[in-house]
Amino acid sequence: MTLSKAADIRFKVAPGGPLAGRLRVPGDKSISHRSIMLGSLAEGHTVVTGFLEGEDSLATLSAFRAMGVQISGPDAGKVQIEGVGLQGLQAPAAALNLGNSGTSMRLMSGLLAGQAFSTMLTGDASLSSRPMKRVVGPLTMMGARIDASDGGTAPLRIHGNATLAGIDYDMPVASAQVKSSLLLAGLYARGQTCVSEPAPTRDHTERMLTGMGYPVQRSGNRVCIEGGHTLHGIAIDVPADISSAAFFLVGASIAPGSDLLLAHVGMNPTRTGIIDILQQMGADISVLNERDVGGEPVADLRVQSAPLHGIDIPPRLVPLAIDEFPVIFVAAACAQGRTVLTGAEELRVKESDRIQVMADGLQTLGIDAQPTPDGMVIEGGTLGSGCVGSHGDHRIAMAFSMAALRAQGEVEISDCANVNTSFPGFVEQACQAGLTIKATRV
Ligand code: S3P
Repeated sequence: MTLSKAADIRFKVAPGGPLAGRLRVPGDKSISHRSIMLGSLAEGHTVVTGFLEGEDSLATLSAFRAMGVQISGPDAGKVQIEGVGLQGLQAPAAALNLGNSGTSMRLMSGLLAGQAFSTMLTGDASLSSRPMKRVVGPLTMMGARIDASDGGTAPLRIHGNATLAGIDYDMPVASAQVKSSLLLAGLYARGQTCVSEPAPTRDHTERMLTGMGYPVQRSGNRVCIEGGHTLHGIAIDVPADISSAAFFLVGASIAPGSDLLLAHVGMNPTRTGIIDILQQMGADISVLNERDVGGEPVADLRVQSAPLHGIDIPPRLVPLAIDEFPVIFVAAACAQGRTVLTGAEELRVKESDRIQVMADGLQTLGIDAQPTPDGMVIEGGTLGSGCVGSHGDHRIAMAFSMAALRAQGEVEISDCANVNTSFPGFVEQACQAGLTIKATRV
């Protein structure tokens, strides 16, 4: 069935597995967003294949259409963009509604701060409660004029005709969204904009800018860009999203008898923390057929079930697996012994408070999961059955779907419509792999 936000969607997942066969999960969300943004700002034609047709990346696509960019598709993952150049966007007729998508709002804040026209950015209840000061603060230092609601949240009013000047910014949090927002503002700024990060974060923006011929200087943890150059349209082949593959990496690891191949998965080293963490827990994952696709590394991943054991997750891996913790918590619940996560307070300000929501759900299923301010302590055990809330968070809904593979009875998950933001077709692909999952409208 096609999921829609009009009603709540409830997943009912019967216990047991195994998972087997071959899957290609949908395209990478981060790269899909950037393909629309940078393709729109480029001179000439950009062709995107493997584009994620999820609600988040479609929100970005609609926003650029509303700013006068001719974009055709998506048609089976193919999108064609007639770039308008850095100065070619037009004022949208109305506010740009970015739905649930933090990436759209944070990256576009920077990009729109440099335009000659004003824009209003809005989002759903979750996005409207997420912190935007982290971009509004440094963008304001560059000369941007942005009004946020009390508490530094959306809606954001971005005033046009600001004169931007480059800054040298030391990010207090390891955030690719903040880094990218400032680099996109830097395209419009006088002089150099430099961003230093406290730990490596995903570098798709830098890679795509470079691929489009825009000079980017990187040294160590610092990246710099200067305004006034030109982007050139290119062909972009979006790999399968490792953050979506993650559900199946864990599912096949915990369900005895599983043997699953995940095809064409993006293996950018700023994203592969999930593989390192699972391998440290004892997972059997082989990285096959490694190749480079348009400046991004890609591989096929074979995962076979294996007994997992608890670990202390190295804090350096946290930003490299930042979106995968809901399902890593499920792996920990199925592992022998204790898993400890620290240094992950960012999880509290994602689409939901992923520390609290996952601890609540795991406890409902009978697992000893203790939330801490910056992580969780989980004692591996036996998953029971029950009804858990996803709080409208796509990754929580998919993580608990995988938990059913090792549960004693049915797992019911509420509020799952937002799975469509990042993984359209999840239920169908999960069924194909061997999960007994039904989505019902309530
Ligand atoms: C993203 C960066 C990450 C990640 C988000 C997508 C991106 O957020 O959680 O899902 O595309 O830049 P932070 O950079 O805020 O950690």
